[in-house]
Amino acid sequence: MKLVKGIDKVINENLVPFQMPGHKGRIEEEIYKYDLTEIDGTDNLSNPKDIILDTLRLISDVFGSSHSFISVNGATGAILGALSTAFNENDEIIITRNSHISVYDGIYLLGLKPKYIYDDDNILDKLKELVTENTKGVLFTSPTFFGDIIDDDVYEFLIEKDLIIVVDEAHGSHLKLIDEELSSMRYADIVIHSFHKTLPSMTSTAIMHLCTSRFSRSFAQKNIKLFQTTSPSYVLMRSIDIAMDIYINSGVHLMEELLCAISSFKDQLESETDFYIDYSNKKKIDKSRLLIRHKEHVDYKEIDAQLRAMGIQTEFHSQRGLLLIPSIMNKKSDFDSLLDALKKVVVHKKEKIEYKLFRPDKSMEIREAFLKPSVSKSYIEAIGGTVTEYIIPYPPGSPIIVPGEVMSEELAYYLEEFEGNILGLEHEGYINILEE
Ligand SMILES: Cc1ncc(COP(=O)(O)O)c(C=O)c1O
Repeated sequence: MKLVKGIDKVINENLVPFQMPGHKGRIEEEIYKYDLTEIDGTDNLSNPKDIILDTLRLISDVFGSSHSFISVNGATGAILGALSTAFNENDEIIITRNSHISVYDGIYLLGLKPKYIYDDDNILDKLKELVTENTKGVLFTSPTFFGDIIDDDVYEFLIEKDLIIVVDEAHGSHLKLIDEELSSMRYADIVIHSFHKTLPSMTSTAIMHLCTSRFSRSFAQKNIKLFQTTSPSYVLMRSIDIAMDIYINSGVHLMEELLCAISSFKDQLESETDFYIDYSNKKKIDKSRLLIRHKEHVDYKEIDAQLRAMGIQTEFHSQRGLLLIPSIMNKKSDFDSLLDALKKVVVHKKEKIEYKLFRPDKSMEIREAFLKPSVSKSYIEAIGGTVTEYIIPYPPGSPIIVPGEVMSEELAYYLEEFEGNILGLEHEGYINILEE
């Protein structure tokens, strides 16, 4: 644990602090003492030479990348760094439409031209339809929030076409602990891991891995640096080192225990209650990701509230069910508590709401629309207009309409009725559209 030891060594020197940060480690809370800056004995994330470099090499060895980079700006920063490493202004790329907002932000910043693969498309068939000689590469999200993983034949097709492959594996930092073959690192040029989502590191920590030799270390370093503070938090970086230690020394064992706990939870849940775990029928899935559903159409919001009142916190609920993100730090007793609580909840039926997938027409590229003057309209008044902002039902946080797309009547009425959280709007209930 080079970073942990290096940081501890500096702390133990009890330096008279005339360096940043302003709290000088003198706030009576343990965490402050680890909050150091770039001085002798620490290192520099933008140009790592010492304990950060050692940690990066360790991560790269363990994950089998050619080079790995720390992001203290989450997968968000790493995705922006990956996109700017991989693509250039006006490049035509294909992305899974369920991409996180940071992918769209990267598309805007770089002026890229995306084509979309929607949730209900067969990815390989759609790719065959969309790839042209102008296609530069792809950005895919795998696994999805729900644990679905893209098949090997999709990557084999992309490699045959020599396309750049970037994979937002934000939800899959732990996949190799289950099975090496679940991770896209075998195929992709760049893979992004949001460490904090499923590994035991702190919020905001992520890794960008270069997995092939298509991009040089120095070029990738230059690009990820664009999206990071020049004062990265040692508290966060230290937590990556701690997570790596757990990953290396007990990751596989803890993952086996987790999957075993999940399997017996699933058996009991399904034999003793009307709830079940809905694993998708995709060939490759992450069995540690749990979507809990009820046999009837029920009010998951109400169930989630009851679970919280009984001390259980899920990741989120939606009309599809309750989404849970267990990790190797969960214990068998957590699943016992969850089972007990699910046995106690009072379930109310609810009218079935169809899951809607919209494919808005595009009238211009994201960047072009984003930069044009706009006016604010209600959803209904906006029908037929080209929108200049995103509408992102959250969670899971992928946009239903993006700048440059046209508001349809069906989508406007759907949004009028929508009860969940919506992000991306300047004023909720109103959307900015192009001035005529
Ligand atoms: C698929 C996906 N990619 C990227 C991100 C961004 O991750 P971070 O919170 O580490 O910036 C998220 C966050 O929810 C996500 O769901």
